[in-house]
Amino acid sequence: MYQEIDLDKININSEPPAEEPARQYYFMAKCRKWVQDFEQKNGRFPKACVVNMGCQMNARDSEKLRGILGTIGYQETDSEEADFVIYNTCTVRENANNKVYGRLGALSSYKKKNPGMMVALCGCMMQEPEVVEKLKTSYRFVNLVFGTHNIFKFAELLASAYESDKMIVDIWKDTEQIVEELPNERKYFFKSGVNIMFGCNNFCSYCIVPYVRGRERSRKPEDIIHEIEGLAKDGVVEVMLLGQNVNSYGKNLKEPVTFAELLQRIERIDGIERIRFMTSHPKDLSDELIEVMRHSKKICKHLHLPLQSGSTKVLGEMNRHYTKEQYLLLVDKLRAAVPDIALTTDIIVGYPGETEEDFLETMDVVQKVEYDSAFTFIYSKRTGTPAAKREDQVPEDVVKDRFERLLKEVQEIGAKKSLQYEGTIQEILVEEVNHQDSHLVTGRLSNNSVVHVPGDKSLIGKLIRVRLTECKGFYYLGEVIEE
Ligand code: SAH
Ligand code: SF4
Ligand code: F3S
Repeated sequence: MYQEIDLDKININSEPPAEEPARQYYFMAKCRKWVQDFEQKNGRFPKACVVNMGCQMNARDSEKLRGILGTIGYQETDSEEADFVIYNTCTVRENANNKVYGRLGALSSYKKKNPGMMVALCGCMMQEPEVVEKLKTSYRFVNLVFGTHNIFKFAELLASAYESDKMIVDIWKDTEQIVEELPNERKYFFKSGVNIMFGCNNFCSYCIVPYVRGRERSRKPEDIIHEIEGLAKDGVVEVMLLGQNVNSYGKNLKEPVTFAELLQRIERIDGIERIRFMTSHPKDLSDELIEVMRHSKKICKHLHLPLQSGSTKVLGEMNRHYTKEQYLLLVDKLRAAVPDIALTTDIIVGYPGETEEDFLETMDVVQKVEYDSAFTFIYSKRTGTPAAKREDQVPEDVVKDRFERLLKEVQEIGAKKSLQYEGTIQEILVEEVNHQDSHLVTGRLSNNSVVHVPGDKSLIGKLIRVRLTECKGFYYLGEVIEE
């Protein structure tokens, strides 16, 4: 594992090695020399702030950035008034995109106060050529820009940024490469995201992710198992397997493996108590997977199953490859196999051409499935996607009205669903001390619901039994039965 690589033993005056990850460790050693010089000059170590703006996949990437910065010797801070600030961006919807430009304005004023400050941008938004053009013309103070495919090169890019007074831009269009064994700094010691695949091949007609994350690539099962065994030894009890469409995991490997087979192998790892995964595409959710979920002791009783729309017509136009009826059938099968499974979803309102009838089909699915919770999104036009070219965009006021009706329905159903476990005894994994009340700790049920119970930080990372005394809508208050 990477912890065993001693940066002091690397000769930074020699040529950098060609192979990975050795090459990146060479550059980490080089960057560390820079950090040591900074400390000599300033009497303190430089501070770094990593800001994550995207999904769980981006959050995991941010942990890798933090791991490298920590290895180099930076001290981590939450404040953007730091010596190094990096935004790991998202571009799935327009507002994610706009946020970045707003925040860059503030960074430029910090940089005026601290001219040695370095600003870097990476992540999905950087894969869009017009974004990079805009940065080059209007945000010249940015030091380093890279994308999703070469994030493993962070140390190497940082080393070049130290030596240059110009903006360094390195964006790859795509990659086949997966670099293993780089450092990462987990946010929680007891749970961790684990990438099982990268990219997406589905090209849903509204979605920019396949363009910015590239083609689907699965990690080898041995590498995933090796990583999770390491995590378990390190105290991790819960893993979240990450991919844009985990149900198509392993199809393109030289020796194909199914997602269901991978789950069974992970189930056998000692120390791992809970297994979660996201996201599941309904079109690829197999009967084999449902069977594995039925028999598993560790797979959590929660499935995030994005619907997007309840209208078969809209689903066809979205290129989702399932109908309303197929989706409902899948939900029936899942509930028959795992009766107490919590279902959550993503829904887009106002896809081009969506009629009132189409929207009512979505409402109908929401009422039939009774989701425990749902993320609802207003359709956002993403340049480069097929849906953006359509002329029948739905007027804003119509979309707003539908969105509010949907949100109300989703919330009412969610509140009703939560009530069903009031009074029962359940197991939670304690995650943190409550932010509002330090006499409470906050944990999650297997079905992902949040529970607050009296306790202190010694409980963090433990699985404890609690009674759910009161349901407060979207969370429970409880009491500890057994630690
Ligand atoms: N791979 C996952 C989703 C990744 S993006 C899946 O297929 O389920 C997360 C969510 O963002 C999507 O499920 C979708 O509901 C939403 N989304 C994606 N593109 C969008 C767009 N152009 N406008 C609004 N919401 C969008
Ligand atoms: Fe986007 Fe569809 Fe891929 Fe999900 S499956 S990331 S919604 S293209
Ligand atoms: Fe956003 Fe990229 Fe995730 S666009 S949703 S951060 S894959």
